[in-house]
Amino acid sequence: MADAPKNNSLEQVIEMLTADHDKVRLLFREYKKLMDLDADADTRGAIAAQICHELTVHASIEEQYFYPVARKAIAEDAEECMDHADVEHQSLKRLIADIEAGHPDDEHYDAMVHVLQEYVAHHVCEEENEMFEELRHAQPNMQTVLRQMIDAKQSAVQQPKSPASQSKKEGSPARRSKSAARKQVRTSGSKKRTDKTDA
Ligand SMILES: [Fe+2]
Ligand SMILES: [Fe+2]
Repeated sequence: MADAPKNNSLEQVIEMLTADHDKVRLLFREYKKLMDLDADADTRGAIAAQICHELTVHASIEEQYFYPVARKAIAEDAEECMDHADVEHQSLKRLIADIEAGHPDDEHYDAMVHVLQEYVAHHVCEEENEMFEELRHAQPNMQTVLRQMIDAKQSAVQQPKSPASQSKKEGSPARRSKSAARKQVRTSGSKKRTDKTDA
């Protein structure tokens, strides 16, 4: 038979998007590990900056190329998942902007990264389990989208990352003392737990 049974362009697009999702999942896991190890601001900030960068590029590619074609292809009664995705992207972008404007030693920085992880997990779950399945049902031709996504991805790789967290590497004296205080609290907290265990 001449025709392949699968819509290859659609599957390749889904594969690219899923690879991005997996990459960000790993980065969030890495951030959590660093938090548990009380890693310093520079180390946590570098991973958070990478998460924000990856998500920004991914969301922009989806919005520019993938979502418009997906929305057209998906049946009217399933369009709700596209509306959800649009609103979720707006929330994600607001939180990303807050993280990029913050410093890893800010009081709520780790919490913001954690909430971002939860938002992303929810959003990605809807894309992978609802949107992609709807598209597999609709079978749109994604040849052009695929080419556009590959080009956009390549130019994103060539562009330097946002310097947001880099420029704040040192942090203000107040932040540094807050960092020290936080470390102290964590250390004494774990000491107390140890004492309790010993008792
Ligand atoms: Fe998305
Ligand atoms: Fe996505």
